[in-house]
Amino acid sequence: MMAVEKGSAMCDILIVGGDGDLAYRKLYVALYELDRAGQLPAGLRVLALARKPLPTDEFPATARRRIEQYRSKPLDEAAWRAFAERLIYVQGDATSAADLMALRENFLQQPDRELVVYLSTPAAIFAPVCQALAGAGLSHDGVRIVVEKPLGDSRAGFLAINAELTRIFSERQIFRIDHYLGKESVQNLLALRFSNSLFEPLWNHNLIDHVQITAAETIGVEGRWAFYDVAGALRDMVQNHLLQLLCLVAMEPPARLEAGFVRDEKLKVLHSLKPITGAAIRERTVRGQYRSGAVQGEVVPGYTEERDGGDSDTETFVAVKAEIMNWRWAGVPFYLRTGKRLARRFSEIVIQFREVAHPLFGDSGMPNRLVIRLQPDKGIQLRLMNKIPGLEADMPLQEVALNLSYSEAFSGKAEVDAYERLLLDAIKGNPTLFVRADEVEAAWAWIDHIAEGWRASRYRPAPYVAGGYGPPEAVAMLARDGRTWYDVE
Ligand code: BG6
Repeated sequence: MMAVEKGSAMCDILIVGGDGDLAYRKLYVALYELDRAGQLPAGLRVLALARKPLPTDEFPATARRRIEQYRSKPLDEAAWRAFAERLIYVQGDATSAADLMALRENFLQQPDRELVVYLSTPAAIFAPVCQALAGAGLSHDGVRIVVEKPLGDSRAGFLAINAELTRIFSERQIFRIDHYLGKESVQNLLALRFSNSLFEPLWNHNLIDHVQITAAETIGVEGRWAFYDVAGALRDMVQNHLLQLLCLVAMEPPARLEAGFVRDEKLKVLHSLKPITGAAIRERTVRGQYRSGAVQGEVVPGYTEERDGGDSDTETFVAVKAEIMNWRWAGVPFYLRTGKRLARRFSEIVIQFREVAHPLFGDSGMPNRLVIRLQPDKGIQLRLMNKIPGLEADMPLQEVALNLSYSEAFSGKAEVDAYERLLLDAIKGNPTLFVRADEVEAAWAWIDHIAEGWRASRYRPAPYVAGGYGPPEAVAMLARDGRTWYDVE
């Protein structure tokens, strides 16, 4: 990581929803890590705004207690003490201009200081918070606003939220987070594709049979019922993370590695996605919901039992066969899949190449596969056919992997969490890894067709046993195409 440039503008961070789950789970830890690595500008203050009364001198201890609940590694004492000096708890209502005015008067008087406002709250209150920020004089050019997904529940919902944001802030000031874009391995996709001449000639419908993108989780909903039961996996994972991964795999090489160029290329991919409607809904999409089972040896309840009983039509698993209608990708399915309470946690992209044109080795050959493991155990495998050593006349083959493990290749390099990178970029004002409004809109437009198709055809989620790989319908979707999911044992 590059250190913060000397002489860059002085900056503070205001975390709205400063005593919320995301703040403790991700934001303070990321800021602490950045501070420990010498990446935060000197003098940067972290203002935590929340309604709950809490003496300001108690906040660092509270934050530490909560952070330690989520961390396996102990904190470095000296680094924590230094970081705690930056923390300021401010009790107030973020939707009240008067409260924000008081905050500004008490802490944000210097005109040349920049401010990053992180809205770690439900999108429902973005509009009143933005109005209050403007009312308190906190929407000037030096303010950047960071917003978390989900941005709406549909294209229309997104446009309404976005209209409120852009009424007050310019696009340049708005940083829409998709934390997958901050992951090291996701960034490496660009490096892999565009700095190795090996891949580009192969990266199209002539040589690629299909692509699989999986984000499998072992966790359930983890107490986020209010949000998840309304959103479901389609809106929670596919609309953002999976479609962003699809864009990075499918996009054309950008002219330059700058925000506008990269975003333009991703947008073209989103615009090329074939809408899924009518009969295709049941052929090309699968919804699932987990029932009780065992995940990694531990018995877990089903989705509705985990909630509060009752019925629910919410999907915890989605599989979609996406098609990109352009010259590069016509005829190459992109199978997307995500689910909770699956057998293993892994996010992976599999590029399956076509079979050889004229097989000389009978049926024992398999098509080559490039497997890009995003998490955990980041790495890249190229799976190739090899002859099994021996004297057999028929030359039996076996698939063998050329293996690149990140942890081995880059041992000694500290792991950087997605939120560290994204917060640092927001502090520096670098928007490359954030999502532009037109990308979010185009992604919703495609998702809306699926959501509407499910609603119109009363497509209820298919049950699946927790601890497996989702409902059999997902296996059948690929089997109809003569293909199988690539599941890691
Ligand atoms: C979040 C979703 O955006 O991503 C969660 O809201 C999901 O439901 C999480 O668990 C997965 O992120 P990661 O980084 O663990 O793959």
